Amino acid sequence: MAGAWLCVAATMVVLLAFALSTTVECRTRNYKFNVVMTNTTKLCKSKPIVTVNGRFPGPTIVAREDDTVTVKVVNHVKYNVSIHWHGIRQLRTGWADGPAYITQCPIQPGGVYVYKFTLTGQRGTLWWHAHVLWLRATVHGSIVILPKLGVPYPFPKPNKEVVVVLGEWWKSDTEAVINQAQKSGQAPNVSDAHTINGNPGPMPSCLANGGFKLPVDEGKTYMLRIINAALNEELFFRIANHKLTVVEVDAVYVKPFTTDTILIAPGQTTNALITASQKAGKYLMAVSPFMDAPIAVDNLTATASLRYSGVLTSTAMKLVAPPPQNATPVANAFMNSLRSLNSKTYPANVPLTVDHSLFFTIGLGINACPTCVNGSRVVASINNVTFVMPTTALLQAHYFNISGVFTDDFPSKPLMPFNYTGSQLTSFSTNTGTKLYRLAYNSTVQLVLQDTGILTPESHPIHLHGFNFFVVGRGIGNFNPNKDPKNFNLVDPVERNTVGVPTGGWTAIRFKADNPGVWFMHCHLEVHTTWGLKMAFVVDNGKGPNESVIPPPSDLPKC
Ligand code: C2O
Repeated sequence: MAGAWLCVAATMVVLLAFALSTTVECRTRNYKFNVVMTNTTKLCKSKPIVTVNGRFPGPTIVAREDDTVTVKVVNHVKYNVSIHWHGIRQLRTGWADGPAYITQCPIQPGGVYVYKFTLTGQRGTLWWHAHVLWLRATVHGSIVILPKLGVPYPFPKPNKEVVVVLGEWWKSDTEAVINQAQKSGQAPNVSDAHTINGNPGPMPSCLANGGFKLPVDEGKTYMLRIINAALNEELFFRIANHKLTVVEVDAVYVKPFTTDTILIAPGQTTNALITASQKAGKYLMAVSPFMDAPIAVDNLTATASLRYSGVLTSTAMKLVAPPPQNATPVANAFMNSLRSLNSKTYPANVPLTVDHSLFFTIGLGINACPTCVNGSRVVASINNVTFVMPTTALLQAHYFNISGVFTDDFPSKPLMPFNYTGSQLTSFSTNTGTKLYRLAYNSTVQLVLQDTGILTPESHPIHLHGFNFFVVGRGIGNFNPNKDPKNFNLVDPVERNTVGVPTGGWTAIRFKADNPGVWFMHCHLEVHTTWGLKMAFVVDNGKGPNESVIPPPSDLPKC
């Protein structure tokens, strides 16, 4: 509320000064999202897809830090829908966070819900996506949060900014893909293409398109706001003959560093500057998968092009080879380069003490399934718990004290420790439950995420709703609680909302539970979320006046 009053006060000051209303610093930005079935001839796809306002990728939300955003979502399709504003902190406004059955019941066919939230303490690129079923494959778009009026970027202002949304495309209907997989108990088909702003570039099987083109002028600088909206694949991004200077990830500024390859996991965003410093020409942009475990991925490279003004149509494209699919060193080099800016204006407030020290194993498992192809199904779990989605939204159950929806006994560490990344792997079948972990308001949390080798080790991009966290350490093999914390970076670790836990390794994060509500945490590989690699934190209200969940809006959907 304090924010709102400041906003009103600022508005009044501006009005008294007879300034134009467009200079009012914080204001409300209203959007309308019609969720519809859309026919697309692009990409040789015959069936209509679910989109927002008929667009793929969907519309961009542009707002400033401190603005309030409202989005009226109208569901015109046959599926249940909910929209998540990925990375927006949603301070006390969990009702607007979006994950179906976690913070709200989904918007049913024909239903309407207005999401309302304020952009507090964040600026940069984030994104929105459907958070139910596999609808986010086609229901997603970018969120651009500009700094407060008059506040510069902490790097030279680019001449132009361009949103670059990376995605994954299936020729068949994605709901059919996952339903079929769930029936059989096996992994779903990999995608048929990667896309750059909705376009894979020329493909042998599809003549309908020529790929996304980014026009540039010689000597000018561009900021690419890159988003990985793919369902299941971490991606490499490269541009022929051009270096990329990374300046922000997940809407937090970083110490700028220059690289020729960006690694971006599903859920993550990366702002990078490029200067059109080359001879006028055409330069290939390549997006390819990163996978360093024996797991099938879509190995097609999506392409787009950078085109200098004045270049002749006959000019040959300068090519670039994507990194090898299993290029772990390229991935590591990128991740190890990320550091918080940690300046006076943008400090890294890393929690230095720990109230809750948590150790979560993340990985796969196999459970019995009499009706499945092999009599078993692939599942996933955290601390051997395969999360079961409730039928009442957890935030309602918490807020209104409805019992029987969840328990708050999520284990803080594995109940049966084992050699997590060794070859002798004991526990294959998992337990099921709707278990949450309870945190007191403002308590500090250290969470070590440990990959397991059950079935196969694999890199997992873990996303936490409602918070940013600091990535204080990472390593290969089993986390060693005696040795590894000595090497934690508590000074300028990168701050983000989604982190890749390395294949057969671990990542340690820290955050402060300063946002009351129920907050989902899950692997952002959609197939793993479906399989149960998810849990939630319940953060109790604090005692102060602005430390509790606000009452739910009157149009909150019912289950
Ligand atoms: Cu981007 Cu829970 O999701």
